[in-house]
Amino acid sequence: MLYSKGMKKSDIKDKSLAASGKKRIEWAAHDMPVLAAVRERFAKEKPFKGLRMSCCLHVTAETANLMRALHAGGADVLLCASNPLSTQDDVAASLVKDYGISVFARKGENREVFFSHLQTAIEHRPQITMDDGADLISTVHKKYPDQVSEIIGSMEETTTGVIRLRAMAQEGALKIPVVAVNDAKTKNMFDNRYGTGQSTLDGIIRATDVLLAGKNFVVAGYGWCGRGLAMRARGAGARVIVTEIDPVKALEAAMDGFEVLAMKEAAAVGDVFCTVTGNINVIRKEHFLVMKDGAIVSNSGHFDVEVGVADLKKLAVRVEKGVRNQVDAYVLRAQKKEKRIYLLSDGRLVNLAAAEGHPASVMDMSFSTQALAAEWVLKNQKKLEPRVYEVDQKIEEYVATLKLKSMGVSIDKLTAQQKAYLAGWEEGT
Ligand code: ADE
Repeated sequence: MLYSKGMKKSDIKDKSLAASGKKRIEWAAHDMPVLAAVRERFAKEKPFKGLRMSCCLHVTAETANLMRALHAGGADVLLCASNPLSTQDDVAASLVKDYGISVFARKGENREVFFSHLQTAIEHRPQITMDDGADLISTVHKKYPDQVSEIIGSMEETTTGVIRLRAMAQEGALKIPVVAVNDAKTKNMFDNRYGTGQSTLDGIIRATDVLLAGKNFVVAGYGWCGRGLAMRARGAGARVIVTEIDPVKALEAAMDGFEVLAMKEAAAVGDVFCTVTGNINVIRKEHFLVMKDGAIVSNSGHFDVEVGVADLKKLAVRVEKGVRNQVDAYVLRAQKKEKRIYLLSDGRLVNLAAAEGHPASVMDMSFSTQALAAEWVLKNQKKLEPRVYEVDQKIEEYVATLKLKSMGVSIDKLTAQQKAYLAGWEEGT
């Protein structure tokens, strides 16, 4: 429903869900102490006073806490969904009703609505943007070139988005400074690894109730997300098979003790599949053809391109929709018999569509980094050029230090002698 009277202009599913959303936002806040410290400082210093911001992110309880921090810092924030299936409608309702933030997102929105929401975010005429997948920034460049000069800078949350932005920069098409938040150590070593590892298994289990112990679990891709997923699937008792195209990562997976196979071989033996590659058609016709009856196929990469759903549709003699929530059965004919391949969440990111995304504790680090990177962009705007920037080292250190403190962990400091030793070259054998 569209709301504007007496409230910020918004398009959300149902305002009456706000009470449940507020509880979830508050629950997540308990596990986001670093972001709370950032929010408290922002509330005092108002670094974004009067600034228009548009954020195209997954609309979750964790994102809601990021929105609260930006809002407390004085920003006029608008939030739209970065994926049609990841919106938590109750959270969206609470953001509008309880926190006065404009939200344009409804779980299950179709492509047309998704893009109309993106358009509204651009028509907000943002001076700072945040993206999860680079849809907002790439649309500004393609369809609203006259607005490019109004944008001081942008933050990017995910690997896929950073890859797109680097491709734009390579072609000379990027006209805005962007910060690759994804590439911060305080982001990818934790969010991509432990967040994806846990939330992806959570999504697969909530959707299917599958017992992982003793199953062949195929992880496609061994970046940070794949490493985390493989590690957690092994912890649940699965026999984990990794597929890769990068020889170094494949070697790492092999030496981490996983079986490494080409997808064609893995397809024939896998019980559960999950893609986390950032690439297209990783599981396709030739793989579906050799899969076992009952194979479960899912994706946890940003876009719904990793599983060749078009191939699956062509191969199926029929589709049994919604055999469980977030599960469709594709029925294929196999040697005069039928076999079923279960596709989760239409091949969209299963951790957000079938579960709640990464837990708040890990998003605490990613979203504190986002908020501080936005402040950094603003402070450094005169020096910035239209290219992809790394997150400032001081931000990484601040986030890691505060996170450790919140966990009650203390670490050593270098002694004067150790500092001098590290700075010298003369001492050796
Ligand atoms: N990406 C992965 N998990 C997320 C979450 N909980 N909130 C926002 N973005 C996410």
